[in-house]
Amino acid sequence: MTIDKQLPSTRTAELDSICLKAEVIPVLTIDRLEDAVPLGRALVEGGLPVLEVTLRTDCALEAVKRMREALPSASIGVGTVLTPAQYRQAEQVEADFVVTPGATEALYRYGVESPVPMLPGVSTISELMTGWQYGYRRFKFFPAESSGGAKALKAFGAPIPGAHFCPTGGITVDNAADYLNLPNVMCVGGSWLTPKALIDAEDWDGIRELARQAAERFHH
Ligand code: 3PG
Repeated sequence: MTIDKQLPSTRTAELDSICLKAEVIPVLTIDRLEDAVPLGRALVEGGLPVLEVTLRTDCALEAVKRMREALPSASIGVGTVLTPAQYRQAEQVEADFVVTPGATEALYRYGVESPVPMLPGVSTISELMTGWQYGYRRFKFFPAESSGGAKALKAFGAPIPGAHFCPTGGITVDNAADYLNLPNVMCVGGSWLTPKALIDAEDWDGIRELARQAAERFHH
């Protein structure tokens, strides 16, 4: 591994300003393009202005474009980015940030040059150390619950206290506080705010209420 260039520290500051806006980042998987704006609006109106749209469906990028236009106060990230090519697509739709489930050297390298900040996914100290060498200071911890949960993240804080995390994967309203109480956790992410049954039923009031409860219970 040769590291020619490190991430500028301004990227870390940008991620901090996004993550400071909300303790909970809903993870959205959008099957029907027409759901994108009402779903995003319900979450933002409920008090959660930072959203991650996963690249798990064909309409995801178009959904981000529409949400950017309709919800200018929201910070919208593109998640499930697996390759630099997908990272580039996220740049093209003017994503505010990029989230990856794991971190390859190719992604770490690409992120150093990109104007869009990335939260690279790590689940071990070794992956974290690789990112750290590239200058990354903010990470997604994924899959959080099955990788040791809040206990593991607390242990990461001993050798590398300057790394801060957004854990996701298995987080719910019941265990979110275990993470949010740690000094190295900025916010948590999860799909529990966007249940498929409510989206399919176009129950935007129900989703707004879930967001409202989360925003009220977990606030900076
Ligand atoms: C993610 O990509 O972050 C996860 O799909 C979210 O995990 P969850 O569905 O367990 O909340």
